Order: sequence, then structure tokens, then C-alpha cells
Amino acid sequence: MSTVILVTGGTGLVGKAIEHVINTEPAGSRFGKKEGETWIFASSSEADLRDPEQTRKLYEKYKPTHVIHLAALVGGLFKNMKHKLTFLRDNILINDNVLHTSYTHHTKKVISCLSTCVFPDKVEYPLDESKIHSGPPHESNFGYAHAKRMVDVQNHAYKEEFGCNFTSAIPTNVFGPHDNFDLEDSHVIPGLIHKCYLAKKNNTPFVAAGTGKPLRQFIYSYDLAKLFIWMLREYDDVEPVILSVGEDEEVSIKEVADAIVKAVGFQGDYSFDTTRADGQFRKPASNKKLLKLIGGFEFTPFEEALDTTVKWFLANYNNARIGKK
Ligand SMILES: NC(=O)c1ccc[n+]([C@@H]2O[C@H](COP(=O)([O-])OP(=O)(O)OC[C@H]3O[C@@H](n4cnc5c(N)ncnc54)[C@H](OP(=O)(O)O)[C@@H]3O)[C@@H](O)[C@H]2O)c1
Repeated sequence: MSTVILVTGGTGLVGKAIEHVINTEPAGSRFGKKEGETWIFASSSEADLRDPEQTRKLYEKYKPTHVIHLAALVGGLFKNMKHKLTFLRDNILINDNVLHTSYTHHTKKVISCLSTCVFPDKVEYPLDESKIHSGPPHESNFGYAHAKRMVDVQNHAYKEEFGCNFTSAIPTNVFGPHDNFDLEDSHVIPGLIHKCYLAKKNNTPFVAAGTGKPLRQFIYSYDLAKLFIWMLREYDDVEPVILSVGEDEEVSIKEVADAIVKAVGFQGDYSFDTTRADGQFRKPASNKKLLKLIGGFEFTPFEEALDTTVKWFLANYNNARIGKK
């Protein structure tokens, strides 16, 4: 029987990475395309998933047997702080429409995408899959966090009431080609890459927001893509899996900025604006469950992945998502 895999949010950072991996992995690879598979990468222009009718039409058109659900209203710290209700409501609507339409269309399996941002603010570290609901999220992103947490609740309810095979993945901070490089509304890596590029081009200082001290785990989008493909084929449990590099691979924002300065080849003035918010200081997440289940995975070294991302940005500046030109 043919397999149709619908990737919602298929035009975003993670969706493009899955498309890249599926199209470039060698035959026989654990992460490559299998015979009889059709992959559909949907954008919001094809169906606005906040709308139940458009969601239904998308499912009727492709009849997906499997769904990797990535579509979401996504943004960095400042965008999240400004638009809490929009983040809450849009993501609730998108997730509810995708999960319920998957149920009514007898989709065999759905993997939805959460984020380590959804974990409680005050929690014992490291984060692991059992702690999603054990306290309120950080106030900076409570809209996004509560909407995403509900997906885990819904997955359990769909399984208990209807026996659905719905689960979720919890990536840490993602970066790679096709990211959103907007200067204000983006995540830290693409935002800093764009800023540093402009500083070099205009011969102006490069100023990073915050103290540079917070620590984060970053996952390269092509690595994350492989882990989603692994989950699709080999993981059949409702409980989420954290998809991340190890806790010992946290890097500081200063280390990120240093690596960007190096990759861009910037040689001017470089400093931190300590009047800007830092967000959570650190939130290490454990990837023990992932490594145990997958039985080993080679992550791309951070600097190598960052260098590839910067090169992609420089080569694609005119078509990249860079906000207002
Ligand atoms: N980026 C990170 O650091 C990170 C970390 C953890 C988890 N995640 C999660 O990973 C998933 C993918 O994120 P990403 O970074 O790839 O985001 P992204 O680059 O901003 O892409 C978002 C995708 O969602 C689609 N989308 C947004 N609103 C939609 C709507 N109303 N209807 C249909 N599609 C809609 C967009 O379609 P168009 O472009 O066509 O509008 C785009 O394809 C999200 O669920 C996010 O929460 C991201």
C-alpha cells in the first residue's frame, strides 16, 4: 500500500530540512526515502490550518497516511513577549484542526512538534519528557507554551478514547538553512547572523542583545530532520521524545556570537547590549531517551553546522526570510 507523508509547515526551517534529507540520503539509508512513499510539503498558502475547512480540503486532496505536523506560529523571545494571545490562539487552532482532521481521516500516525520552550520555568534540571506539565512555563512565552503543551494532552486523549497513534517530538533550539533571519522577530542564531552580516557590509559595530551569558543546546536542522524520519519509521508510543544534542553540549550566546563573527569574517567592533532581556539563563534537556531508543546518532559539530548555515545565508540573501528590506 502506498504511503503518503504530509509535512505541515513544510516550507519552514524544519520542513525544508526534512525535504533536503529525504531527497539527498543515499538509497538504503535509515533516513532516506523508501519505495512507495510520497512526501508532501505543505505551506500556509496551500491551506491556512487555523481554518477547519481549509485543513479538511488539504487532507481530502492528499489523503495522508502519516503526518509530521510542524506548522506553527513561531518566533523568538521578543515576538513571543509581544503577541501572547496570538501565539496561544493560532497554535491552539492549528493543532486542534490537524489532530482532529487526522482522526476523522483515519491517518495512521501523527508526530507533532513541541519545543523545549514549553517546559516549566522552575523545574529541576535537566529537563526530561516527564516534566512538561509540572509547573507554569516562563512568562515570556506562556501563550506559545500552553498551546504546545495541549498537544501532548490531546495525543493522550485521542489514544485513550479512539486508539490513535499520535505522538510528539520536543526539539531544542533549531538552526540551519531556510531559517527566519528577520532582525527582531527571529531566534537568536539567525538574528545574529543577519546582524553580523549587515555590520560587515555597512562597516558598523556588531551588537548582540543581552549579556551573552545564557546557555542553550542547539540542534542543526538537518540532524533534527533525520530524527523526525527515525520517529516516523521506528517510534510508536504516545509519550514525547526530546530531540536534542547532549546536555554537555550547551553553548553560551557569546560562544554563538563568536562563531558567527568567525564564519561571517567580521573584523569590526563587537559588543553585547546588556540592557536587553536574556530570557531563561539555561534549560538543559536530556537526550537519554532518544539515544537509548535510536541506539546512537552522530550530530553535526556545532561550528561546522553554523558555518554551513552562514554560507547558505550569504549565498541566498536575496531570497532568504530577512524581514523588511
Ligand atoms: N525554530 C526553532 O528553534 C524551534 C525549536 C523547537 C521547536 N520548533 C517547532 O518546530 C516546528 C517548525 O518550526 P520552524 O522553525 O520550521 O518554523 P518556521 O520556519 O517559522 O516555519 C513555520 C511553518 O509553519 C507554517 N505555518 C505557519 N502558520 C501556518 C498556518 N496558519 N497554516 C499553515 N501553515 C502555517 C509556515 O508556512 P508558510 O511559510 O507557508 O507561511 C511554515 O512552513 C514548529 O512547530 C515549532 O514550534 C522550532
